[in-house]
Amino acid sequence: MNFAEVFTTVLSITGISAALTIIISLAEMKLNDYGICTLDINDGSKTLEVQGGQYLLNSLAANKIFIPSACGGKATCGLCKLQVMEGAGPLLPTEEPYLTEEERENHYRLACQVKIKSDLKLHIPEELFNIKEYLTNVDVLEDLTHDIKLVRLKLPEGEVLNFKPGQFMQFYTKPYDKIKESVFRAYSISSPPSEEGYVEFCIRQVPDGICTTYVHTALNEGDQVQLSGPYGDFFYRGNTKTMVMVGGGSGLAPLRSLALDNLAKGVDANMSLYFGAQKPRDLYYTEEFRDLEEKHDNFKLIQSLSRVEEGDDWDGLTGRITVHLDEDLKKLEDPTDVEAYLCGGPGFLASVRKVLIDNGVPASQIYFDEF
Ligand code: FES
Repeated sequence: MNFAEVFTTVLSITGISAALTIIISLAEMKLNDYGICTLDINDGSKTLEVQGGQYLLNSLAANKIFIPSACGGKATCGLCKLQVMEGAGPLLPTEEPYLTEEERENHYRLACQVKIKSDLKLHIPEELFNIKEYLTNVDVLEDLTHDIKLVRLKLPEGEVLNFKPGQFMQFYTKPYDKIKESVFRAYSISSPPSEEGYVEFCIRQVPDGICTTYVHTALNEGDQVQLSGPYGDFFYRGNTKTMVMVGGGSGLAPLRSLALDNLAKGVDANMSLYFGAQKPRDLYYTEEFRDLEEKHDNFKLIQSLSRVEEGDDWDGLTGRITVHLDEDLKKLEDPTDVEAYLCGGPGFLASVRKVLIDNGVPASQIYFDEF
């Protein structure tokens, strides 16, 4: 083959590839063009006309209907469940782990996984319509530990955030550094509702976490932060005389809100707050809780450190917090009179839950806030 023939052949192949690329792009555009779709909410009590091709979670949020989400739509939290009665298509493998048999039969889906391709009929619990957006300002941003920051946000003048201690908010980032898009993540409120005009969070730096890195490296006092909420069903039930709270890491946040609120309201249950960490540098709010112990006979703080080394400034309990919880539960006359509130990672929660159940605390009285 001479040079001219090689040149012609290469040119032809390039031309064919370019034509194929254009055809595929056009086909994709056509296939993804679902036009305007109607969302019929709660049997016609509200209807929305939305552009097809978007995910249901985002489309509802754009219309100020905020469905709980802790993972930002990555199908890892399972919080964005809602009933899609018609039009959602088959269940996706990403949804399966989060839906029980009963939920599947009742048309529950993960809103972050359902792409709007046709008209949908939805059932959305009424309380979700009360969730609002707030434009706040950073009032205080300071270190609680080497990797946890207190973020205290000031609500707009006259704005009231009605939440139950234990609930969480969604926190929206702004583009920063190489991150070009805004993302949102869920954080438990650490302050009590009595602190009007402000809301606080304890945010731990997670390696490569978009939102936590934003908070730890890009956010400054005075900056604006958008929030939505409140969300979640982790709140105090108050049906027993003994309340056990167990947290690890930044899991102290919702438990602080619960404890401060209960003590301020004069709840007379015996309240024990167990906090497990590795080293003395991981402890925070110790002084505040010790002060509460002094003032309230029905409150105590139990801290235990699992990685104390020689030279560490620590003469308290050591080892896993579950060991001390186990010992204390064994001393109780009636473990069925315990309500337990747990917050931490999945492994931590599983081990705490096992200790509670092994000691006779009814599973139905164990409440979780998992992260
Ligand atoms: S938003 Fe987390 S699973 Fe849908």
